[in-house]
Amino acid sequence: MPNQIYSERLTFTKLAEHDWELVRSIYSNQTLMQHIGATMTEEAIRLHFEKELAPWSLASTHWLTWIIRENASGNDVGFISMCTRNREILTAEIGFIFLDAYKGKGYATEAVKHMIDFATKTYGFKKFTAVCSEEHAASRRVLEKVGMKLDKIVPDSTEINGKMVTDCFYSLEVS
Ligand SMILES: CC(C)(COP(=O)(O)OP(=O)(O)OC[C@H]1O[C@@H](n2cnc3c(N)ncnc32)[C@H](O)[C@@H]1OP(=O)(O)O)[C@@H](O)C(=O)NCCC(=O)NCCS
Repeated sequence: MPNQIYSERLTFTKLAEHDWELVRSIYSNQTLMQHIGATMTEEAIRLHFEKELAPWSLASTHWLTWIIRENASGNDVGFISMCTRNREILTAEIGFIFLDAYKGKGYATEAVKHMIDFATKTYGFKKFTAVCSEEHAASRRVLEKVGMKLDKIVPDSTEINGKMVTDCFYSLEVS
């Protein structure tokens, strides 16, 4: 597996120990996490981080995470992760977080498209899924722009900071 891949404006590098501070700051940022889940303690973030540093294969149960940097500046813009969910129809769930300073540039759309293309060609995934809260319009728009379709809306699906939220489940089958 390559350690680095590139799209037109972005570089994706596999998560490494030196990314700890970026990951810690993202998972403890209340604004970024508002539609994803409660902000985590540093200890919980570290546990999660260490799991993701482990070598990844299709049989892994942990997420394969890529740190995304802007080609033009070299700055960190966020990350994208995928996790195998089904091995009969080889399926990956995709998740992503972008820093506020880089929103609205089409980066999330570019990154998700690129990851779907890469994961299809490299690992043979046949299907991709993603989940986001119903009220998270920007994320839903990203999923729609990459061609995902809305399969179901599930009320009271996730608890975020003491409030039950409705989730939207999206998927895309690739041929
Ligand atoms: C959601 C997120 C990924 C969007 O990233 P981004 O790089 O700004 O996304 P893009 O620029 O590729 O596309 C965003 C789209 O949403 C639209 N959008 C943004 N805010 C919106 C809003 N409040 N209502 C409706 N549409 C909105 C944009 O106009 C754009 O669509 P368009 O190209 O048709 O104009 C980013 O804000 C983020 O990481 N947020 C925090 C973490 C998170 O919630 N991750 C997703 C978990 S499911």
